[in-house]
Amino acid sequence: MSEKPAYSPGLEGVIAGESALSRIDTERNHLLICGYDLEDLTEGAVYEEVAYLLLHGELPTRAQLEEFEAALRAERTLPPQVVDLLRQAPADAHPMDLLRTAVSALGYFDMETRDNSPQANVRKALRLLAKIPLIIAAGHRFSQGLQPVAPHPSLGQAGNLLYMLRGSEPAPHEVRALDVSLILYAEHGFNASTFTARVVVSTLSDLYSAVTAAIGALAGPLHGGANEAAMHMLMEIGSADQAEAWVLDALAKKKKIMGFGHREYKKGDSRVPAMKKMGRQVAAAVGDNRWIELAEIVEQTMIAQKGIYPNLDFPCAYTYYLMNIPIPLYTPIFVSSRVAGWAAHVIEQLGRNRLIRPAHLYRGIDQRPFVAVDKRS
Ligand SMILES: CC(C)(COP(=O)(O)OP(=O)(O)OC[C@H]1O[C@@H](n2cnc3c(N)ncnc32)[C@H](O)[C@@H]1OP(=O)(O)O)[C@@H](O)C(=O)NCCC(=O)NCCS
Repeated sequence: MSEKPAYSPGLEGVIAGESALSRIDTERNHLLICGYDLEDLTEGAVYEEVAYLLLHGELPTRAQLEEFEAALRAERTLPPQVVDLLRQAPADAHPMDLLRTAVSALGYFDMETRDNSPQANVRKALRLLAKIPLIIAAGHRFSQGLQPVAPHPSLGQAGNLLYMLRGSEPAPHEVRALDVSLILYAEHGFNASTFTARVVVSTLSDLYSAVTAAIGALAGPLHGGANEAAMHMLMEIGSADQAEAWVLDALAKKKKIMGFGHREYKKGDSRVPAMKKMGRQVAAAVGDNRWIELAEIVEQTMIAQKGIYPNLDFPCAYTYYLMNIPIPLYTPIFVSSRVAGWAAHVIEQLGRNRLIRPAHLYRGIDQRPFVAVDKRS
């Protein structure tokens, strides 16, 4: 047996920590959150229940849910300085950059930023859950030359976000589709952004720093940014009759097809069927089947050619598009959900902390003589 642990590029297959938050049932290809099948959660719960589950380890009773929802509503405010920051951002700033900066700024207005007790971190997580949709909506409206819309007093996370973006109440099928996507996005093990959050707090830093860094990690197109990239790809393909040829050409050029593939799933992302169902429902409601047909051909071509299946970002992309959500908001919406998972991991990491500090294989020059600056050629 070798003395050193095996090296695995990209940490593929490496067990980098312990968690009680989620697991993939590989036999059934289902994701379980705190022991609950995600499919049951999408069918029977709303996003707030899943966020509560992640933060408290148990699903809420009706009374606990109502209390949680009331606490979220009470936190739907932003410090005026953060609103100014959003107002003053360049109109073409990417909403993920805006969100990363605004979340970081929230850290210095929270009296509990430095309190790393689990209770304080649950309270801060609740504030982030309430405030992130406000940042997304206000930032978007400023970029369009519009004023922010005050939160709706009775809508939940999904409905209120759509309401604050548009200034009008969303249709029930839209609220349901967005809510299901939020449930599906909430938690997914040691993915890159969650691992980032855990690395950050493993130094005994704080939740705001962890979430700020996690937003940065999520933004890239190999991770959360894939939902935006997938929609740009679908738009570039343009129509179902172009789809197969487009994919074949892209594969021949060794291009990555955005919204496909996953480190943890090689036989398909367990979250895709529930989101595809939502996509079909929204398409039927708006009477536009174009994107569903196009996406289906891309999917079938990828499976036939490469045996690579779509991940959650793929059906989310066209479902959000059919709901008229601006493309640059897709990844920020992912953040508005995943923040529950990040916070739960932060609390878990701090509960049994050990500094995360891996080793590396040195591949550079072994040793060479130092030469003073004036003597170097
Ligand atoms: C998610 C992702 C980064 C996982 O990466 P990974 O586990 O490191 O897998 P690899 O990138 O090593 O892929 C293995 C093989 O499948 C191919 N592959 C994986 N995803 C692919 C995709 N979306 N399009 C085309 N080929 C893909 C790779 O090119 C590689 O082929 P090779 O062995 O011939 O070089 C990768 O699938 C990807 O880049 N997908 C597109 C971006 C995306 O949708 N991200 C969201 C993830 S939820």
